[in-house]
Amino acid sequence: MSHSTLIENALQSYLDRKPEIYSVLWDSMRYSVGAGGKRVRPQLTLEFCTLCGGDAESALPFACAVELIHTYSLIHDDLPCMDDDDMRRGKPSNHIEFGEDTALLAGDALQSLAFEIMLSPDTLGRCPADRAAAAACTLAKLCGADGMVGGQVIDLQYEDKQASEQIITQMHLLKTGALIKAACLMGCIVAGATREQLTAASQYADCIGLAFQLVDDVLDVTSTSAELGKPVNSDIDNNKSTLVSLYGIDECMRRAKELTQQAIDALSAFEGDTSFLRDFALRLISRRN
Ligand code: IPE
Ligand code: IPE
Ligand code: MG
Ligand code: MG
Ligand code: MG
Repeated sequence: MSHSTLIENALQSYLDRKPEIYSVLWDSMRYSVGAGGKRVRPQLTLEFCTLCGGDAESALPFACAVELIHTYSLIHDDLPCMDDDDMRRGKPSNHIEFGEDTALLAGDALQSLAFEIMLSPDTLGRCPADRAAAAACTLAKLCGADGMVGGQVIDLQYEDKQASEQIITQMHLLKTGALIKAACLMGCIVAGATREQLTAASQYADCIGLAFQLVDDVLDVTSTSAELGKPVNSDIDNNKSTLVSLYGIDECMRRAKELTQQAIDALSAFEGDTSFLRDFALRLISRRN
């Protein structure tokens, strides 16, 4: 089975619950996860796992966990108190469809479901417990205050005032790079990777994470909502600090390409076939959504 099919089937099965009274919560969780998305993070988890000699099945719960956390971050990111965006993954945002209260709780519940999945008896049956704990701890660290959530706070703090390049880079590394890094590292950890492999995966992740947010900020001004599946000009409307506003589109794309080359260079630390990860990094900067 292809990695994409494995991911879609597993996500669906983890969300297949229909409690009698509060089923609207599960409906709203399924709504956002099932709306698609590029599945960048889970693909990275499975690919790094197989590159380091593990099998994709054992990394699957961790791949799904990072996608669930990512989806929760998107639901919360779209709320009126954050970016106030009414479209996501080609559909009305979660809070438009279910209301702010349920959207907030769906995000909360997706986050705890991610940890339940990583530490469940079923997962511990396919992955050694010490590796599962290390992977879950990695995701916990990188999705929280010193990771994605911290980055979102920087993003909000610099609305209506210009952040320096250094602060914007720090913001990108946290709000976007952190989950991408967690995705790569968890794949390595599940496979029992060496220290050198973990360092190289970190370097690759930081570079594609920075490039990913640069391209996201460029697409916010150059794309259409039909193509993106989310509103355009959201950053301008919210007076966000971006490198696009600081340096312009061409310079941002130049930097994204440079970072992608650095990511590809980091792959030389691996002995196996890294062509998928090389092409993946290249695809991320030429993407249209
Ligand atoms: C959007 O992430 C939020 C950012 C970190 C820029 P993606 O572009 O990966 O969103 P989906 O998962 O494809 O919807
Ligand atoms: C958000 O960055 C990153 C997250 C942690 C969700 P953006 O606010 O630019 O993401 P989009 O453009 O709404 O997807
Ligand atoms: Mg945002
Ligand atoms: Mg946003
Ligand atoms: Mg954006």
